[in-house]
Amino acid sequence: MLTPSVLIFDQDAHSGSSLRELLATWGYHPIVAGDIPAALKAVDELKPALFLDGGSADDSALVRQIREQNVDLSVVPFEKPVDPFKLRVQIDRALELNLAKQENERLRRELQDRGIFGELVGNSESIRKIYTMIEQVAPSSASVLITGESGTGKELVARTIHKMSPRRDRPFVAINCSAIPESLMESELFGHEKGSFTGAASRRQGCFELADTGTLLLDEIGEMPALLQAKLLRVIEERAVRRLGSRKEIEVDVRLLAATNRHPQQAVTEGTLRSDLLYRLNVFSIHLPSLGERKDDLPLLAQHLVKQLAEKHGRPARFLSPSALQALQFHAWPGNVRELRNVIERAVIICSGEQIERHHFAPYPIEQRERLRSEDTLTVPVGTPLEEVERQMIMRTLQKTKNNKTRAAELLGISLKTLHNKLNLYRERGLMHEE
Ligand SMILES: Nc1ncnc2c1ncn2[C@@H]1O[C@H](COP(=O)(O)OP(=O)(O)OP(=O)(O)O)[C@@H](O)[C@H]1O
Ligand SMILES: [Mg+2]
Repeated sequence: MLTPSVLIFDQDAHSGSSLRELLATWGYHPIVAGDIPAALKAVDELKPALFLDGGSADDSALVRQIREQNVDLSVVPFEKPVDPFKLRVQIDRALELNLAKQENERLRRELQDRGIFGELVGNSESIRKIYTMIEQVAPSSASVLITGESGTGKELVARTIHKMSPRRDRPFVAINCSAIPESLMESELFGHEKGSFTGAASRRQGCFELADTGTLLLDEIGEMPALLQAKLLRVIEERAVRRLGSRKEIEVDVRLLAATNRHPQQAVTEGTLRSDLLYRLNVFSIHLPSLGERKDDLPLLAQHLVKQLAEKHGRPARFLSPSALQALQFHAWPGNVRELRNVIERAVIICSGEQIERHHFAPYPIEQRERLRSEDTLTVPVGTPLEEVERQMIMRTLQKTKNNKTRAAELLGISLKTLHNKLNLYRERGLMHEE
């Protein structure tokens, strides 16, 4: 392994140089900087593995500047007089931690190259853009509005943002505004004191308090009653909640994420979403593509779900047969990844071998659509000569009309004479078969 370089920041030249000697005997590559500009220059040019900070109290500003240049640089403070034994343990530990971090990062990237980002799966261009957005927004405390059709993974994205944020070890709380009766929603959100309303038998904390120092997901935000939206806005602005039946303000530090499967601007126009609330929540927005828009991800997603669900149910299924995968690819997936998951879950449960076949999807509409497709539609690869497309279309139309040529000509929008001419031509060329 390369000798790790350690930048020593010490304004006292004498102790700086004796530290340098010490570190050199321990097998490191030491660099000494005696002032702030020299330290910043060394960080920039020499890319040390560690910053040994023996500066005075005002160097927190230096540390901040260094962090701006290199976020990952580990900083180890030391006191004078230096205790060599302690210092060596500290340095070794920091470098080990560095290596572990690098290894983690390498693994994360490797997984991402294979289309796995936390719990999110997909390698299409559109889902990769989502990964990048999550990486950008997760470290901050900014509110994020997540939109997308039902079943596209909005909640999963919200959880991923939380897990990749500095709040990852703090609570993640989700409240689904469409699942809670209006009369209970206020107490769910803000909590209540005992006896504050009929049925409030005891005091209760609301979601905001439960999510304090963590993240709160307001799911189906468009379903929240207008009055509550106004109260919510006030809580966001004042960073404090008041339980129902209480006057006391409780300060809360919550990162807000909101999700909706409706078009937010449209919801504003329709009057179901307050525009001021939307602007508050929409500091950053992530729109999830439907599964139909990212069909390239289907094989990877399907395979991932087979593995995940077979594990969950203790089933032997391991993979999909090519024709089973093809059947999935033909389907339109109006229910997005959730629908795919349900279909695969069912197949995994009934499949007794390792390979899921297309019949394991029956009686799910996938099979029917398939049959419908083979009767009523024609698939031709892009780039097929037009003459050939025409021939196949004619043969299939005749098949559908049970060889009624008048009806076929009608459907095809050509004269019966033209149809006869074409069929004669095919006959001459020996092309009367259908594909
Ligand atoms: N990219 C993905 N990779 C793996 N699993 C996914 C992905 N997207 C969604 N899922 C899975 O699909 C299911 C639906 O996802 P989720 O609940 O996050 O969707 P949603 O957008 O919140 O849906 P709804 O609007 O109906 O609440 C979950 O089981 C989730 O784990
Ligand atoms: Mg959801």
